[in-house]
Amino acid sequence: MLERLYLDNAATSFPKAPGVYEAMVRYGQDIGASPGRGAYAEAKQGASVLAEGRRLIARLINAPGPDRIVFTLNTSDALNLAIKGVVFHRLRSDPDSRIHVVTTAMDHNSVLRPLNALASLLPGLFRWTRVPVDAMGRVDPGDIQGAITPETALVSVVHASNATGVLQPVADIGAICQKARVPLLVDAAQSLGHVPVDVRAMGIDLLAFPGHKGLLGPLGTGGLFLGPDMDERLDPLREGGTGSRSESDTQPIDMPDKYEPGSHNTVGIAGLNVGVRALLERGLDNIRVHERALIERFVAGMAEIEGVRIVGPSDADQRVAVFGLVFDGLDPHQAAERLERDHGLLTRAGLHCAPGAHESMGTASMGGTVRVSFGLFTTHGDVERTLAGIARVAQVCAVSR
Ligand SMILES: Cc1ncc(COP(=O)(O)O)c(C=O)c1O
Repeated sequence: MLERLYLDNAATSFPKAPGVYEAMVRYGQDIGASPGRGAYAEAKQGASVLAEGRRLIARLINAPGPDRIVFTLNTSDALNLAIKGVVFHRLRSDPDSRIHVVTTAMDHNSVLRPLNALASLLPGLFRWTRVPVDAMGRVDPGDIQGAITPETALVSVVHASNATGVLQPVADIGAICQKARVPLLVDAAQSLGHVPVDVRAMGIDLLAFPGHKGLLGPLGTGGLFLGPDMDERLDPLREGGTGSRSESDTQPIDMPDKYEPGSHNTVGIAGLNVGVRALLERGLDNIRVHERALIERFVAGMAEIEGVRIVGPSDADQRVAVFGLVFDGLDPHQAAERLERDHGLLTRAGLHCAPGAHESMGTASMGGTVRVSFGLFTTHGDVERTLAGIARVAQVCAVSR
């Protein structure tokens, strides 16, 4: 049987770091308790799993402290909390205030849908601007600056595109936002765990991230970093039991309980901790060196194949290892099907929840692209096998035209 090669790390990483699932089984079988809900040893062990997770992630992104990390279900959950939390806080302070958000043409539906939901909930009060990108999918920080008005409550930027892999100049945008005193939200779904992220050096106030992609943790994990004072500018979207301040029937304001009502996915976070520890041990700079080498080889190999092209930058400095491919005369779904059926290559076809990115790159009308995404455990042999499969599909397609 054809050996299967997973090339959809942009959706979720696979495999995970060694030991992730073992840690989850250990937690489920040997500890089991819900943290913060008991004084017995197992409940305290659960609390230390959460505390360790916050410590590890804070170290990874250079956050000022572990309690600035809020656990969420995934990136989308973190983005909803960041976007709606800022807007609801503004509305609570001044119900008549007009609120504006700036985002980019490359952003994901997990940003666009909350923005559109707010626009329909608050007609006349809420609006948002999408800043265009150049032919490579990069935004000009000057255009972000130009889009900021006195009503702007937030700038939201996707760090690395899930459609093309292009990286945005986040540090430059961070400097602009700091000067304009507008908080910067960064969607790090495709960057964290792949490129070094330093929230302080890059001027990031809110960082939404998945636990289940670059951090090598299980599905159902994610988080939001909140910079100093952001908790005073962001309302929670959910209230409920936290195991703390039980005498009060209103939501505590302490971090991170303010945003974490209900029982945690402690089993998932036990696994996530193993993933983040593996990243810290290997070092983000070393991971970037490995992934850059994969990018360079893939780009060079693709340049030699006729009938198929990569959308977005070829320069490894400007991208992560997420590639959108266009096959001449072949629908992306058909191409992905052939890659799987004939070569065992598991890719993803379509618009990848980023219709604006495809419109900007001219790939929306052709049904999107075939997405190939490498991960930390992708080898050079895997890249060669991927190139060979792509070449064969492009060749068969050219012959049948
Ligand atoms: C850029 C980007 N933002 C947000 C998301 C949503 O991530 P999650 O599935 O963790 O909610 C994704 C997922 O693919 C993504 O690529």
